[in-house]
Amino acid sequence: MNVSVIGTGYVGATTSAALAELGHQVIGVDVDQKKVGMLNAGRLPFYEEGLETLMQALLKKGALAFTTDLARAVTGSDILFLTVGTPSQADGSANLRDLEQAVRQIGRALNGHKIIVSKSTVPVGTGERVKAWLQEEVTKRGLSIPFDVVSNPEFLREGKALHDALHPERIVIGCESDKARAMMTKLYQGMQTDFCYTTVRDAEMIKYASNSFLATKISFMNELARLCEQTDTSISKVAHGMGLDSRIGSQFLRAGIGYGGSCFPKDVEALLHLARENGVPLRLLDAVATVNREQSGWFLQKVRTALGTLSGKQIALLGLTFKPGTDDIREAPALKLIPVLLAAGAQITAYDPKGMEAVGRLHPKVRCAKDAYAALDGADAALLLTEWPEFLKLDFARVIGSMRKALFFDGRNALDGAKMRSYGFTYDGVGERGTA
Ligand code: UDX
Repeated sequence: MNVSVIGTGYVGATTSAALAELGHQVIGVDVDQKKVGMLNAGRLPFYEEGLETLMQALLKKGALAFTTDLARAVTGSDILFLTVGTPSQADGSANLRDLEQAVRQIGRALNGHKIIVSKSTVPVGTGERVKAWLQEEVTKRGLSIPFDVVSNPEFLREGKALHDALHPERIVIGCESDKARAMMTKLYQGMQTDFCYTTVRDAEMIKYASNSFLATKISFMNELARLCEQTDTSISKVAHGMGLDSRIGSQFLRAGIGYGGSCFPKDVEALLHLARENGVPLRLLDAVATVNREQSGWFLQKVRTALGTLSGKQIALLGLTFKPGTDDIREAPALKLIPVLLAAGAQITAYDPKGMEAVGRLHPKVRCAKDAYAALDGADAALLLTEWPEFLKLDFARVIGSMRKALFFDGRNALDGAKMRSYGFTYDGVGERGTA
């Protein structure tokens, strides 16, 4: 099938490559000429495991191409995916400006029946707005062209985006006609997974509900971790014991310094906004967001207490990205901690395998070290903020000799506490026994 993917961010670039790999002819569209040039040259503007290599192979094969010419892409396609950004506005609602612009342009170029598929995370009811925008543009041209609007949310994780796009655990298709259902089924033919057919509105809600539920699991554990510290219990042992129950599931029970990234915080706020608009307060989800906002501050308070004051102290930050395996620092807990540390008069040395450049640009006062050892050299305290595998393999006997004070705060419970103490560190995790 001929497919266009409009918007070439994480979701768009990954979707384009995955669909081309499935055997379709794919055109990725973006308004940014520079980005399109880069992509056509086989370079990704962000880091995502395996994606660049696959993209290069698909470009070479002629199965994938990128363009700024949306009208031409529309004319030559049977299915059009919308993967533009829907960032949060001040009130938590999703900004649909880019989406509307893309949809109206499609409407102006429509030349026969097409399926317009929304993969962008959008509030419930957006499918109907997309339909209205398209209809308006087509009517303006004095034409009557049939089309179908489908919601097919994406559940891919950054760092594992390609794997998730090629091997999804489920494919949710919200559609309202047999023709759309048949075409979407054909598009994904060959993917061995569960298909969930719903209305467009249900599909839109499934995406928000899924991310909000995962965020709820994390905030539940993060809040419980605070109680574990006061009751001589270990949150990771508790999580393990809970996770053996298949009704609970073992994933997303890791306590830490809060969830970040481009999805969870934004989607939780958007669902809360939708709830307020509809007069149905989601009190539980409200608390999920509050716990998450507090978590990094709660963690920093432990550092402040141990050091007496942060003023004049050298703090080493290990990890800056919102999770390992990505260069993305959007909504990363590190970005909440850095301004507070600087305002309190601390000096920060930091190291992250992928996130240094972006943080350095935002916070020129943060000293970017060449590796973890250099960041830890002379530090009064080390704060592990992202559980990059290379931090787990550090030579801690060497580290302890280079630090001014052997204080280690593990914001992800990534290291073995007993082992760290055996090196001589005063080691503190999140919600672990003996850290109160
Ligand atoms: C998420 C969803 O997983 C994905 O399905 C959706 O489409 C987009 O949002 P992503 O943002 O890439 O993906 O990250 P994810 O791996 O889900 O982690 C989100 C945040 O939660 C990270 O900051 C991570 O560190 C944190 N997290 C995750 C925890 O603190 N504890 C956990 O147990 C799991």
